[in-house]
Amino acid sequence: MSAPLKFVHEFVPGTSERTLLLLHGTGGDEHDLLPLGREIDPGAALLSPRGQVIENGQARFFRRLAQGVFDVEDLKRRTDALADFILDAAERYRFDLAQLVAVGYSNGANITSSMLLRRPTLLRSAVLLRPMVPFEPISPPDLTGVRVWIGGGKEDMIIPRENTERLAAILSAAGAEVTAHFFDGGHALTSVELVLVQRWLRATPPAA
Ligand code: MLT
Repeated sequence: MSAPLKFVHEFVPGTSERTLLLLHGTGGDEHDLLPLGREIDPGAALLSPRGQVIENGQARFFRRLAQGVFDVEDLKRRTDALADFILDAAERYRFDLAQLVAVGYSNGANITSSMLLRRPTLLRSAVLLRPMVPFEPISPPDLTGVRVWIGGGKEDMIIPRENTERLAAILSAAGAEVTAHFFDGGHALTSVELVLVQRWLRATPPAA
């Protein structure tokens, strides 16, 4: 018998080749983004792990020292653990990593960006909803061919627009094909952006 996967998670099989990796925000869990995943891609398989850090009873993907101030060593360690989980899950559930699209919200978007910067060959496509810079890379990774869709909130009190713009600039400088939109609203997602994500996914061909 194979060893259990190292994150508590949900896996929902799909009817297409694509798998969405769903990464929740602080206080969420593995069930949180399943409806959103179904909404933005009705045919995709869904893989949704639960963050392993507990902060005041709330699950997250890495430790922070204060709001928006990250424990970078912990972030890097947990980024590697999550990346390894994805590799193990691809083997267990037999999905194609080239067809994997990461979809992260808030804290989940931040660990997704961290994976893009630290494990640049793992993800070919990512949707970052309300993200910020996870850490400044010392040397930019090569993200040529990676597609990233970013959604920010114009009045987000948790994540300043400039910070999200800085992330978009870092990813673009690394060679990623970045699309960034800022919506009327704050940290909560808007229905209009989910429609745009849905369209972007439909228009995003599988990675070669
Ligand atoms: C983080 O800690 O990742 C960000 O501040 C977003 C959040 O509040 O979770």
